[in-house]
Amino acid sequence: MNNPTLLTSLDNGIFTITVNRPDKLNALNKDVFTDLNKALDEIESNTEIKSVIITGAGSKAFVAGADISEFRGLSKTEAMVLAKRGQDTFFRIENSSKPVVAAVNGFALGGGCELAMACHFRIASNNAKFGQPEVNLGLIPGYGGTQRLIQLIGKGRALELLMTAGMIDAPTALQYGLINYVTPFEELLSKARSILEIINSKAPLAVAACIKAANAVYDETQNGFITEIEEFGRCFATEDMKEGVSAFIEKRKAEFKGK
Ligand code: COA
Repeated sequence: MNNPTLLTSLDNGIFTITVNRPDKLNALNKDVFTDLNKALDEIESNTEIKSVIITGAGSKAFVAGADISEFRGLSKTEAMVLAKRGQDTFFRIENSSKPVVAAVNGFALGGGCELAMACHFRIASNNAKFGQPEVNLGLIPGYGGTQRLIQLIGKGRALELLMTAGMIDAPTALQYGLINYVTPFEELLSKARSILEIINSKAPLAVAACIKAANAVYDETQNGFITEIEEFGRCFATEDMKEGVSAFIEKRKAEFKGK
């Protein structure tokens, strides 16, 4: 699937999604959301896809936010519909059974920071900048930013960023725990790929169970410890668990099938 607002490619089980509006710093408009949802359908249904990278086109921005030009003239109700669409899309990313990594190649502001935070973890190039500048527009984040920023960096740091509209650079984001690595710009995608290649060599159902149990931490309708017990038990019913344990005992490399 290739189209103007999103580019996708599949290579060795790794599906790369590139938000492709570089002249608008990859701002998320209606079309990007439509295409992102199509890409998420593809990720769910295509068994060749083992894991996902989300990045932005060009050398300046990952995503510089929701497309501000779509905000003009919206009513309160229309604005809430817009926020719900964004949140629903980002929940799909967060709850994907396949690992999704944000490769942040520049500005990750507003909806861009929110998109990165919905991914399972984040890697950034050394020119990346993160922020939630919505108060500059008389707004707050609408795509989960007030919630996930606190989950990732804590309430004090999050509220400072939210209320000042300040930006942090990649080393600060690393120090805050918002990202896992900082790389030179040219090495960003290869770093993301090298981590995903490791994950792709593991048992896919166990990897999915890690995501499910980790997400339960933040889900008030679930007890994460119970979810962990259930997922632990479910793993015992998989062929891959039997293969993994047998391979260890027989001192050979496990051949996982995702079953
Ligand atoms: N929505 C719509 N268009 C955006 C955008 C956004 N969030 N962010 C950038 N753009 C557009 C600019 O309007 C400009 O378009 P134009 O060339 O047609 O005028 C183009 O992208 C380049 O941006 P520009 O502002 O000229 O680049 P810069 O290097 O001077 O500044 C930023 C970069 C990221 C600091 C600046 O673009 C910015 O503050 N963007 C908005 C960030 C934001 O508030 N995000 C949250 C939205 S809720």
